[in-house]
Amino acid sequence: MAKIISGKEVSAFLNQKTADEVKLLNDKGIAVSLAVIIVGDDPASKVYVNNKKKACEKLGIVSFEYALPENTTQQELLDLINELNNRNDVNGILCQLPLPPHLDEESLINAISPEKDVDCFHPVNVGRLYTGTGKLKPCTPAGVMEMLKYYDIDIQGKNCVVIGRSNIVGKPMAALLTAQNGTVTLCHSKTKNLIEHTRKADILVAAVGKPKFVVKDMVKEDAVVIDVGIHRMENGKLCGDVDFDEVESVAGYISPVPGGVGPMTIAELMENTVTAAKIQNQVI
Ligand code: GUN
Repeated sequence: MAKIISGKEVSAFLNQKTADEVKLLNDKGIAVSLAVIIVGDDPASKVYVNNKKKACEKLGIVSFEYALPENTTQQELLDLINELNNRNDVNGILCQLPLPPHLDEESLINAISPEKDVDCFHPVNVGRLYTGTGKLKPCTPAGVMEMLKYYDIDIQGKNCVVIGRSNIVGKPMAALLTAQNGTVTLCHSKTKNLIEHTRKADILVAAVGKPKFVVKDMVKEDAVVIDVGIHRMENGKLCGDVDFDEVESVAGYISPVPGGVGPMTIAELMENTVTAAKIQNQVI
């Protein structure tokens, strides 16, 4: 039976460190703040934004919410981002995705000052990630790295297989594992004989976006399996990209859904917000 990698436990550990850092900065007269922009009424996005706001409150981070109507124009958003870039009392800026289809996500991401880009989506920060010169980290992949570290899972020289090549998870995940000397294979929807790759994985990260996609036969005995997916099943329950009940019997470690990677993403966002405040106040 696999050991459980608890995102609840690791995020609580990380959040405590972040809260301590916020307090230290506050004691020096430095406030830490995050501005979150949400456009339209997407119910899932509303839940995520609310969770980010609650996390800020818990850790002593000031949050500013900009809930804008569905018909907001590109120019209005650019103007808001520009204003937030220039405000000294705003350290982090996050524009919740997806945006309504009439808006151009790429140019909005590019408009956020790289020093305030707590999502680590700006091309400058993506470049820094690949050269190992960045301080801000991509939240979900950084959360996975933190989980591996907390459970003392060695990455050096290990076969790491990532399924999914999104800009938010798969690609930066591969970059972070590579930086820790993993031997990384990045698989995706066009990969031939996927199972031949996944069966070689010492560390397998599933970020495919398909419910219960990873089954027992795809997993090597004692592998570390991290599940980045989250899906609502017909019975109302949540599941991940991994068929937990099957894979649990073969893996060495496994992260559950819910209670796995989910809480880590927000914990890393909070940590990035503190890092952004430190960069802007030149205390890093
Ligand atoms: N939508 C889903 N996940 C994310 C995220 O990590 N950041 C932003 N900005 N939007 C998202």
